[in-house]
Amino acid sequence: MTAQKRIVVLISGSGTNLQAIIDACKNQYIDGDVVGVVSNKADVYGLTRAQNANISTCVLSHKEFDSREAYDAELIANIDTFQPDLVILAGFMRILTAGFVQHFQGKLLNIHPSLLPKYQGLNTHQRAIDAGDKEHGVSVHFVTEELDGGPVILQAKVPVFENDSADDLASRVHEQEHRIYPLVAKWFCQSRLAMSAGCAKLDGNALPENGYASED
Ligand code: GAR
Repeated sequence: MTAQKRIVVLISGSGTNLQAIIDACKNQYIDGDVVGVVSNKADVYGLTRAQNANISTCVLSHKEFDSREAYDAELIANIDTFQPDLVILAGFMRILTAGFVQHFQGKLLNIHPSLLPKYQGLNTHQRAIDAGDKEHGVSVHFVTEELDGGPVILQAKVPVFENDSADDLASRVHEQEHRIYPLVAKWFCQSRLAMSAGCAKLDGNALPENGYASED
């Protein structure tokens, strides 16, 4: 049996995706352990989730730094103390510097609540409603220097119903997030997933633009 992968999760909020990853590690769906959780905000519920699971936490407030570069340098140093094999952004609401992305290149994953390349950035659910979209969803992707622009690994779609509010849609999307993020982390920890030449590869095969299509 190969060694369990060391996972660090970065959060800024309630951490429901963090919880899904913690649970999937605990029940051995993922061959890995969450060894550290880092938040840029104190008093977020995600930190309580980590503490409840006896996981080390670290709060690094961006407000105490003069520049994005200085913050990200300290963030790298903090994450590196956990010696991670995989760094998971789970609602970490910060734009990352090129230096940060390069440092963790190939082992940095993000979840974004839209069917990328649609709706990079914020307010994705309202934007999908305003555009009259009939379907919406979520993407897990490798992080590159382009914001929400790295190669997509897996997406899940949800319908947009008439009279949906952004909150209705967000909760429908959230349910799918908790399904697909652990699956992608599982693939990574099995060493089946990698990024090379800007492309996501599963079992050595380059994934199409919208990621792996069918459900596992
Ligand atoms: C999730 O919906 C995630 O897709 C989104 O933040 C939420 C975090 O929820 N991420 C982004 O918008 C990144 N651009 P959680 O704290 O309950 O996991």
